[in-house]
Amino acid sequence: MKRLPEPELMEDHAQVKAYAKADFEIPHYQFIERLKLFINKPQFSGTALDLGCGPGDISCRFAKAFPLSKVHAVDGSEAMIDYCKLSTSRELKTRIRFILGMLPDVILPQSGYEIIFCNSLLHHLHDPQGLWQVIKKYSRQGTRVVVMDLLRPDCLESAQKLVKTYALDEPEILKRDFYYSLLAAYTLPEIKKQLTQAGLNFFVEQISDRHVFITGIAP
Ligand SMILES: C[S@@+](CC[C@H](N)C(=O)[O-])C[C@H]1O[C@@H](n2cnc3c(N)ncnc32)[C@H](O)[C@@H]1O
Repeated sequence: MKRLPEPELMEDHAQVKAYAKADFEIPHYQFIERLKLFINKPQFSGTALDLGCGPGDISCRFAKAFPLSKVHAVDGSEAMIDYCKLSTSRELKTRIRFILGMLPDVILPQSGYEIIFCNSLLHHLHDPQGLWQVIKKYSRQGTRVVVMDLLRPDCLESAQKLVKTYALDEPEILKRDFYYSLLAAYTLPEIKKQLTQAGLNFFVEQISDRHVFITGIAP
């Protein structure tokens, strides 16, 4: 099935609220568990970079999983960054800095990060190299990179089936966003091609009926 791009930013307030309130417990929990296994450094005390942080759930989960860490969390949507600032506890806000910025042009406070992670951003990007180039720009030698995203199903019926399976009880706006995100997602071969083009020798693995998990160490 041909890819159908969706708007890059999530700026509509109703959309932001629906996304923030949605039940992502299982995929977000699994994201952090897999990331912890890959990083293998419970005492990590540096600064990590979260690209396309949305309402900040993954940024907060990371900060809790690594209590000595700091996080720079970036999103191009003002509505998302405002939501993060309002909803994150005062304690976590001492360690998480929410930054309004658009990939790939964003200028970040540090020139390099030890850990870079990103969930559900890639499928939003009209030019996927935007993500891989930012990762390359802000990596140092040995930076651990973890990216999770949706995979595009092979037909519209499969996409509809995934929405029914995983978002049946969610509001209509979320079901619609999930459906269009599936249609906008990249396939495994497309992601592998993007990485080859970017010169990144990362490991790409399908981990569920709708998710791809990508890990790598910057050269
Ligand atoms: C589906 S949400 C994922 C949010 C979060 N990472 C999570 O897993 O809950 C994707 C986010 O990426 C942001 N985004 C999309 N394109 C972007 C770009 N070019 N630069 C910065 N943020 C972008 C959107 O505004 C949205 O908040």
